[in-house]
Amino acid sequence: MFDAVSLKALSLLTPEECAEVLTIRNEPGVRDRMYTNHLISASEHQGWIDRLATSKRDAFYAVFLSKRLIGGIGLSQIDTQNRRADWGFYLTSTLQKQGVDSVMFFKFLDLVFDEFDLFKLNAEVMTSNTAGLAIHRKFGFQDEGVRRAQIWRGDRPHDMVLLGLTAPEWAVKRQHLAASVRGEA
Ligand SMILES: CC(C)(COP(=O)(O)OP(=O)(O)OC[C@H]1O[C@@H](n2cnc3c(N)ncnc32)[C@H](O)[C@@H]1OP(=O)(O)O)[C@@H](O)C(=O)NCCC(=O)NCCS
Repeated sequence: MFDAVSLKALSLLTPEECAEVLTIRNEPGVRDRMYTNHLISASEHQGWIDRLATSKRDAFYAVFLSKRLIGGIGLSQIDTQNRRADWGFYLTSTLQKQGVDSVMFFKFLDLVFDEFDLFKLNAEVMTSNTAGLAIHRKFGFQDEGVRRAQIWRGDRPHDMVLLGLTAPEWAVKRQHLAASVRGEA
């Protein structure tokens, strides 16, 4: 599977592929886990695409499995002075629980720490998002605290776990994970 997973920058996507990104982002199992969980309209999505075209603080990539667009992954709050950014990601529900997330993480973390020259990547994950927390910890993210009552879902606030990964931590972790993520172990 490793070689079949690829990342394609938002600026290189066709209009049809941009529409597929929106369809996945609007899946209930995806948007319920994200900071905003409303149904995103086509015009709001286009506004986001237009904003990212000129933004130096955001970057987004579509995730492909062979030729099929299966998810998205990206950076926000890119701070070049302090060499840090936040990130977020999602996979279409039919491709979850199959190990694609590990390959997506592996390839994107190499991109982040090599091409974006970041030193630190930060994440916020809902305490109820078991798979989201587990995959971060598997990839060496350290728990850095809990932000209480940060996000409303239904009729109650939820806590967010703060996690972070530095470039040297990734350099060590990628050695440990490389063989299994590539399917060689
Ligand atoms: C987050 C997401 C990309 C994870 O991908 P996934 O394919 O569903 O996750 P997996 O099934 O591979 O689970 C990830 C890890 O958590 C573990 N895990 C999953 N559910 C678990 C549970 N209930 N208890 C303990 N561990 C669990 C898995 O075993 C796996 O570890 P492994 O690779 O060592 O086997 C995917 O669920 C998704 O897109 N969710 C919606 C959007 C989202 O949550 N984005 C992240 C916001 S921070």
